[in-house]
Amino acid sequence: MSILNILTYPDPFLKEPVKPVENIDDDLLRIIDDMAETMYQAPGVGLAAIQAGIDKSVIVYDPEEQGFRALINPEIIEAEGRTISENEGCLSVPDFRSDVQRFERIVVKGLDRDGKNLKFEATGVLSVILQHEIDHLNGILFIDRISALKRQMYKRKRKKELKNDS
Ligand code: NI
Repeated sequence: MSILNILTYPDPFLKEPVKPVENIDDDLLRIIDDMAETMYQAPGVGLAAIQAGIDKSVIVYDPEEQGFRALINPEIIEAEGRTISENEGCLSVPDFRSDVQRFERIVVKGLDRDGKNLKFEATGVLSVILQHEIDHLNGILFIDRISALKRQMYKRKRKKELKNDS
């Protein structure tokens, strides 16, 4: 297994929707294991393949340190209610956190790493993580879901940081 390099805002790759997975092969299983290792090392509670520069519809997540799960070609098929996630953050959006409006309850479908069809309901922290990671696969970052004013503040701060780094 190996640690993958995580792309950060404003990398344009993060804005492009990814392609669905057509074959679950050894390469994909290796990617999933590498994604999990990268997530734990960061540390984070979820990671989408796009964040590692991989154009595939795959996420891994582990909200309660109970071992990671992978979801291939995940899709939200039902969503209802409103909740505010507190202090949401993202490995691709360094040094920034914000409350984000999310659905309270979702139903997600996808495939597990064995190619088995999954369909399940999620609420609470798991629901927020899944919405966040599935957003990534559609080229959406959590800063796209906050007020324009807050987003501008972050973009300016990030620009300044990148300038100082170079
Ligand atoms: Ni993220």
